[in-house]
Amino acid sequence: MRIAVCPGSFDPVTFGHTDIIRRASKLFDKVIVLVSVNAAKSPAFTTVERVQLIHKVVNDLKLDNVVVDIWDGLLADYVKQVNACAIIKGLRAVSDFEYEFQMALANKILYDEAETVFLTTSGENMYLSSSVVKQIASFGGDISHFVPECILKDITERLVRTNTNKTEV
Ligand code: PNS
Repeated sequence: MRIAVCPGSFDPVTFGHTDIIRRASKLFDKVIVLVSVNAAKSPAFTTVERVQLIHKVVNDLKLDNVVVDIWDGLLADYVKQVNACAIIKGLRAVSDFEYEFQMALANKILYDEAETVFLTTSGENMYLSSSVVKQIASFGGDISHFVPECILKDITERLVRTNTNKTEV
């Protein structure tokens, strides 16, 4: 069985992510969407919230060979543990490349048996990021172009609430 791991912060999951996950699910027998720790980021959603959102989307899309997991260690260790042959990453613009290239090289050194596979983002998701979604939603803006309908309300309510609690001038 050819297993691929699709790691990320998913804070929150967007159409950019679901596009990559859906396409990866056609290339591999099993895809594990792995909610992992990016040491450079402070997530707005808890790990459990992020997993719940991904679960909803994966079920909605009926991606039967996709599962969701959590990992707070090195990605290479997880990939080895589940015997995956690939790490799937989405590439948007050239600006993603240097960082992703560095991680791919590091992961290859840490675990040589898996390849990092880059899928180019679909054109319409080129400028989409979780940060953009969070910023728009926290000010009550419309994020329906950026995240699947089944999680629209969850994200909006959660971020508007957080923003309201924070903003005392
Ligand atoms: O969605 P992101 O934030 O770009 O995802 C980055 C992530 C979480 C995949 C990356 O930071 C990661 O792999 N974290 C796990 C810890 C690890 O292995 N770090 C070294 C990578 S070379």
